[in-house]
Amino acid sequence: MGRLEGKVAIVTGAGSGFGAGISTAFAAEGCRVLVCDINEVGGKATAKTNPLLLSFHKMDVTKAVDWKATMDMAMQQFGKVDILVNNAGTSYRNKQTVEVTEEEFQKTFDVNVKGVYLGCNAWIPQAIDRKEGGVIINIASVGATRPRPGLVWYNASKGAVWNATKGLASEYGPHQIRVNSICPLVTGTGLFSHFTGMEDTPENRQKFIFNVPMGRIGEVDDVSSACVFMASSEAKFITGVNLEVDGGRCI
Ligand SMILES: NC(=O)c1ccc[n+]([C@@H]2O[C@H](COP(=O)([O-])OP(=O)(O)OC[C@H]3O[C@@H](n4cnc5c(N)ncnc54)[C@H](O)[C@@H]3O)[C@@H](O)[C@H]2O)c1
Repeated sequence: MGRLEGKVAIVTGAGSGFGAGISTAFAAEGCRVLVCDINEVGGKATAKTNPLLLSFHKMDVTKAVDWKATMDMAMQQFGKVDILVNNAGTSYRNKQTVEVTEEEFQKTFDVNVKGVYLGCNAWIPQAIDRKEGGVIINIASVGATRPRPGLVWYNASKGAVWNATKGLASEYGPHQIRVNSICPLVTGTGLFSHFTGMEDTPENRQKFIFNVPMGRIGEVDDVSSACVFMASSEAKFITGVNLEVDGGRCI
């Protein structure tokens, strides 16, 4: 029996990187997943890895109307949604903060913060109505608490997610809704070049391990395994936690 057998999840940004890994890891534990992404090609590719349990839904996390359609589709298809993973994220390319344009700032906050706000607003009412609790997992970042030069407003957006995770956990705990964040270290996903300002090559990855006690950058399954744990009943009394999955980088 899988650790998420009988559960239903929405995973955003599931057409690539962590979101794709989280979706396939959830399905491997018996969870049905609505694979959500603005990128149709990536989202469909994720869904194809397990057509029995994964189905793709195109949506933009920054649009309330898309969230309504997503919840409508999930309720119609599955009758409930136990787990919401707010994973979709974006960043401008690492650079001097005074060079970040207003458009880049706005997009970063729209996807990384407004997307989580809209997702929670869309998902929470049905979780309260069902009276069976539920789980929200937000993908934040090590930069939420240990920011470094060049990604100031990206890290600030993750700081907002870090803080909202605790606020949501305290507000919805009485409904048995657990809210936690995972804070990953830099990982070789689609965003690697934006975060580091370098191409994703084995040589460039080596440049980011000097301050990581465990001596490597992140891997997608470091994060997907942590998400399976957080979503499962093994974490049933854990809420309001921002879990660093970073080989010790934040120590
Ligand atoms: N990779 C890292 O080093 C790292 C480290 C810490 C945190 N994160 C966070 O992990 C999360 C996943 O990113 P990733 O590293 O897998 O990058 P990625 O680029 O591989 O995946 C991000 C996905 O989000 C989707 N997306 C972007 N804007 C969207 C929107 N408006 N609506 C719907 N989908 C949208 C993209 O199409 C893409 O498929 C992000 O929140 C990111 O900030 C990544």
